[in-house]
Amino acid sequence: MGETAKIILDGKEYEVPVFTGSANEKAIDITKLRDLTGYVTLDSGYKNTGATKSAITFLDGEEGKLWYRGYPIEQIAEYGTFLEVSYLLVYGDLPTEKELRYFTDSISHHTLVHEDMKRFYEAYPTHAHPMGVLSSMIASMSTFYPESQNPNNFRDIDLTIHRLMAKMPTLAAQAFKVSIGHPIVYPRNAYSYTQNFLHMMFALPTYEYEIDPVIEDALNKLLILHADHEQNCSTSTVRMVGSSQSNLYSSISAGIAALWGPLHGGANQAVIEMLEKIKNDGGDVSKWVAKAKDKNDPFRLMGFGHRVYKNFDPRARIIKKACDDVLNKLGIHDPILDIAKQLEEVALKDEYFVERKLYPNVDFYSGIIYRAIGIPTEMFTVMFALGRLPGWIAQWKEMIEQGEPIGRPRQIYTGHDLRDYVPIAKRG
Ligand code: CMC
Repeated sequence: MGETAKIILDGKEYEVPVFTGSANEKAIDITKLRDLTGYVTLDSGYKNTGATKSAITFLDGEEGKLWYRGYPIEQIAEYGTFLEVSYLLVYGDLPTEKELRYFTDSISHHTLVHEDMKRFYEAYPTHAHPMGVLSSMIASMSTFYPESQNPNNFRDIDLTIHRLMAKMPTLAAQAFKVSIGHPIVYPRNAYSYTQNFLHMMFALPTYEYEIDPVIEDALNKLLILHADHEQNCSTSTVRMVGSSQSNLYSSISAGIAALWGPLHGGANQAVIEMLEKIKNDGGDVSKWVAKAKDKNDPFRLMGFGHRVYKNFDPRARIIKKACDDVLNKLGIHDPILDIAKQLEEVALKDEYFVERKLYPNVDFYSGIIYRAIGIPTEMFTVMFALGRLPGWIAQWKEMIEQGEPIGRPRQIYTGHDLRDYVPIAKRG
């Protein structure tokens, strides 16, 4: 037996294995704990729970490191394309030219969505949040492709993966077009993945839309930076839903719902709304930092803090630089970028943030780039979902391939003691 941990309960000693990951991370393996001792562990928010073994993404929150399949995020973001990185996450290695061509062609082939799905848009209210629309449209896809129902049929699953990668940008862009009363723009398969998305978002039948390579590059980088982040809330949701052998579309739809919350992906929208509010309030960042520290005030500095990073989020570093580059190249001066930088400077020197190791996260600067490239605020979290899609898929696939059991945590009951039913006439 390798390394073990000893647990003493009611004076009795138990020995349980310790599992060591490839980056020397240690975990006490408690799989047999309840059988051995009758005890379970209690870990609200799963702060100390390793829910799975995974070979996809490595994250060191203390050092601020992030790797996809062993490649550091800095190199991946500098040199990769989003489809190449998606392939890497889903299939485990960077593709050869031939593999990438097949993957790209197959995805291009599937970009159209069933015409019947267009009718769904008529039923949503005009100002429906696109995350709600996207989540339901993706869930609906399972009804159009019933062959996706068996998660263990690997050929059909591959088809489902390609369909999802292909159709999610189409659905996202359609949801946007409908929300502003513009006609839907069909995909153009001669374009790259990112060009096609920009085309579907911004082209109009009335004039020629030219894709700016600066915008295309920025979008490519942003999608890559969001592509995976190990067992975060939405990814854990995707794995949890999939663990009941539910199909991939439903699992991804649930992931989108989890991502929507302002504590997770919804933070990118919340950051811009916060920065706007600070600007309209006169731009006094100290006042807002003080509000964020005040425990009687529910306000939090959006885009700050992270469950795992207790150092700079490496993605935030890259995005901050990209933000300066993109705005410079596009010749845009956005006053909320100045406010964001001031806010960061004040917060990083403040005892409250220093003590709690609260740094800017991926969402802090991403919204400013989205804004600069013309993406409306309500679509920011949809952009995050488009980026995270290959990560969700890779994690779902790994979970199925590892034959993981259904996710079903325990609880500690703190409710009423056993009591007898009281007929309604005798209550109160
Ligand atoms: N502003 C002010 N105080 C904060 C913030 C913040 N943004 N984040 C954490 N704290 C405080 C928190 O009040 C607590 O203080 P105390 O110890 O005095 O009670 C301490 O820092 C630890 O925070 P926590 O809430 O216990 O930490 P958590 O790991 O449960 O939450 C978080 C992590 C990301 C939800 C949280 O930092 C937060 O709400 N941040 C703002 C929302 C945000 O930017 N979310 C995006 C996260 S990154 C991308 C993604 O996941 O999608």
